[in-house]
Amino acid sequence: MKPLELSCIAGVWNTSLGILNENLQGIGSDLQLWFPWGGTWRGRDLDGGLPPTDFPDDLAGPGVSRFGGRFWKAVSINGTSWLISVRAPSTATPEMAAWELPEKAAESLKMLSDFVRLECLLGLTMKILENQSRENIGHWDRVRHLSVAIGSEMRLSPRELADLEIAALLHDIGKVGLPDELLELAGPLDEEDRKKVEAHSLIGSAMIREIPGMEMIAEIVLSHHEAVDGSGYPRGLKHEEIPFGSLIIAVADSFDAMTHYRPYAIERTYLESFDEMKREKGKFSPEVLAALERVLKNLGILDTKPLVGSKEDW
Ligand SMILES: [Fe+2]
Repeated sequence: MKPLELSCIAGVWNTSLGILNENLQGIGSDLQLWFPWGGTWRGRDLDGGLPPTDFPDDLAGPGVSRFGGRFWKAVSINGTSWLISVRAPSTATPEMAAWELPEKAAESLKMLSDFVRLECLLGLTMKILENQSRENIGHWDRVRHLSVAIGSEMRLSPRELADLEIAALLHDIGKVGLPDELLELAGPLDEEDRKKVEAHSLIGSAMIREIPGMEMIAEIVLSHHEAVDGSGYPRGLKHEEIPFGSLIIAVADSFDAMTHYRPYAIERTYLESFDEMKREKGKFSPEVLAALERVLKNLGILDTKPLVGSKEDW
């Protein structure tokens, strides 16, 4: 299964790598940190992610191993196995064998283990949801990346960005019980079907609210179809009453829907979609739209058509 990598945990990886790097100075260089993902290993160094790799089984055994010109030491943190590796000097040195994981690094790896578990569970959830309806393929991922890009542009705090990213991934989780025919229906919905579809923000929010610490994420999901003029659902909230994360997801969600083919609409260029959203006064936050425009301009893609999701791919 393709790993789901949350952008909000990049800072936690960097903290862990920074502590370990400082502690391993003089023993080896070019630090890498790996953990098992299915049948392979996923890792990072101080410059970012490394390509998934297979390692010999004995690297994860006790003690220190020497492999590929590097020292390898396995540590188990809250049930997650980690491999810490540094480029080794050519002559044998006893320092790595005597090296113990410092408490500060263990604390940091504990936090990283929790996040990695969250990534695994979210990845599994997304897979299940993608299998349920073709409409969802790639949509979650694009909406969360765009939401995080807008949120970063608007200088949200790391905690706000983490909540925003997870809420963007899970924003339509309440559609889990809706029949495929309803999701793929071409043309406008009748009153009864519309009510069924609109209930997804209430259902999704109630599902997430059950998880301790995810109350803000539940709140963001609940309001992702609210509009700044009060014409949205489920509560008809107005601009300042709507959580900031919901305003961002509303823009990212609509923008992705407009730029990618669905049975009931033809995909447009980024610029055409953006102009149409600007014309829909009262639906979106002007501040968030302005941030989206800056993100698209910085990427230099405002005048292009999306590369995926066209009618031919359907
Ligand atoms: Fe939705």
